[in-house]
Amino acid sequence: MEVVILSGAEEIGAVAADAIADLLHRKPAAVLGLATGSSPLAIYDELAARCEAGAISFRQARGFTLDEYVGLPADHPQRYRTVIEDVFVSRVDFAPGAVEGPDGLASDIPAACAAFESAIQAAGGVDLQILGIGTDGHIAFNEPGSSLASRTRIKTLTRQTRIDNARFFDDDLDAVPTHCLTQGLATIMAARHVILVATGRGKAEAVHHLVEGAVSALWPATILQHHPHVTVLLDDAAARRLQLVDYYRETYLSKPKWQGI
Ligand code: GLP
Repeated sequence: MEVVILSGAEEIGAVAADAIADLLHRKPAAVLGLATGSSPLAIYDELAARCEAGAISFRQARGFTLDEYVGLPADHPQRYRTVIEDVFVSRVDFAPGAVEGPDGLASDIPAACAAFESAIQAAGGVDLQILGIGTDGHIAFNEPGSSLASRTRIKTLTRQTRIDNARFFDDDLDAVPTHCLTQGLATIMAARHVILVATGRGKAEAVHHLVEGAVSALWPATILQHHPHVTVLLDDAAARRLQLVDYYRETYLSKPKWQGI
């Protein structure tokens, strides 16, 4: 696990976009894993700007989102399909239908989850997964207690996650759905490279567990310690509880540039 502490969202966006640009250069038909939430927004802004400038193209690429609320009407602005379309997909040049997500309106939920897993496999698996992290250590919507071997399935959201996400529902906790479909921890672990972004003091405890804590279903993101290629991009506030913070800074500063992240 590589920990990179940067000056803020803008630099995080640029470093992650460099890695995605490198991937698209090597493999134009790359498969990207796309997260919702506020953490990746700077990455999407940077990618949209580079695409508009003609520096990168997503024309042959595919994308899979991580998760979806269950039961939000098709026209609800907080449906993750709609959110990812607004914040990223509509701003770049993906082919129509190139980005898929789990179907939170499916009548047969287990079948929809299995179909989503099959679609990821049929696309050749995710080359690069962008992730955020919840304050309780969840990734995608794998809440504390999630099986470390889980695949796409229905989950009940914790009260904490619903409180955290109420800001997207006019601060109305009752409007936040209680259930979601989410890629499992094993689904995420199958991605070839994972870039996790966390900014702000509110993420410091989760980041502390993710990077330096014991692997435990209580802090689901800790499973990433078993992944061979994870890059954790942080600002100072999110890194404030890390014991080896000086080491992480020195390592990144002295890293040969050709290595990338
Ligand atoms: C939601 C999403 C996660 C995201 C998390 C953190 O729960 N399902 O994928 O990582 O929120 O969101 P934010 O980046 O807005 O803090």
